[in-house]
Amino acid sequence: DMGGHDTYMHKEISEQAEAVDRVLRGRIDDRFSTVHLGGLNLEPGEARRVRRIKILGCGTSYHAGQIGAGLIEELARIPADAEPASEFRYRNPVVDPDTLYVAVSQSGETYDVLAAVQELKRKGARVLGVVNVVGSAIAREADGGTYVHAGPEVCVVSTKCFTNTVVAFALLALHLGRIRDLSVADGKRIIEGLRRLPGQIDEILKTEPEIKQLARRYADAKSMLFIGRVRGYPVAREASLKLKEVSYIHAEAYPASELKHGPLALIDPSMPTVAIVPDDDLLEKNRAAMEEIKARSGRILAVAHQPQEKADDTIIVPKNENELDPILMGIPLQLFAYHTALALGRDIDKPRNLAKSVTVE
Ligand code: F6R
Repeated sequence: DMGGHDTYMHKEISEQAEAVDRVLRGRIDDRFSTVHLGGLNLEPGEARRVRRIKILGCGTSYHAGQIGAGLIEELARIPADAEPASEFRYRNPVVDPDTLYVAVSQSGETYDVLAAVQELKRKGARVLGVVNVVGSAIAREADGGTYVHAGPEVCVVSTKCFTNTVVAFALLALHLGRIRDLSVADGKRIIEGLRRLPGQIDEILKTEPEIKQLARRYADAKSMLFIGRVRGYPVAREASLKLKEVSYIHAEAYPASELKHGPLALIDPSMPTVAIVPDDDLLEKNRAAMEEIKARSGRILAVAHQPQEKADDTIIVPKNENELDPILMGIPLQLFAYHTALALGRDIDKPRNLAKSVTVE
């Protein structure tokens, strides 16, 4: 049942405020400015001994894991990174007893992720799952973890599950941070930020008519570049994946800092750039990147917290805490991908050549 929406993608994008509310519910502990995650199976002493965190997933879940790694480094100060599960599996990885492994999957059935978990467990590693589907293969195989509580996701293209997975990582990062060196004041600041998310998501969803107009104007592009820095880079990667999956427009994501090392050669009036421009310590750097693109007559669509003079168009999103901004900045670009695909008459819920869960190698 699509509940009055024309596609599951639209329905699922529209459900994100409730979905985020659900992943937060019952987990916040105001007394200690932390969160409790019931199924983690990680004692405080064990959490303190973790030296590294390695996050494994595929596609959108891998991108959510990249933002998750950033959150863990920022809030818990544990070195963390994300890697596609299949790459990890085939490079004979060094499995280290002081590393905590985290497998991310909406379906909990993605073969490459499951096989990576099994290989890790065979080598004695501790593996947590960040999974949406309760009781799925990866959830059962992991030593513990947390459910994402996004609710069923039917559209092949993942939207609400991406957002909820990133929120689940924020909770994990806060939990680990408060066992380690994150202060009460910072814990409180992040909790207040988390509580603002559902209302801010609703504000973003209300701008859909403007995003629809923008999408129609950019839909004639043959190719688009997505750029961001640090917190914004995985947002750019996910937005680029979303656009190509559902609209079939070629899109590529780059760290903004890498522009001059190659992709600037592509810039001309027919190749637009989508720039993720949060109001944080890298604002000036991002503005400089937009200037370089403008100097080559490139068109720019910015996603930002305030109007960007260098951009041709700006989608304004509400500001949260710097660490949590990536959660919100991806949402207008889900709508952008959706409306681009709609304008091009694509089969939105079932893009060609793709399946909802990839249970083969
Ligand atoms: C993108 C998408 C895929 C999945 C990937 C992993 O919109 O849906 O990239 O994210 O196949 O699937 P899960 O999360 O089920 O392991």
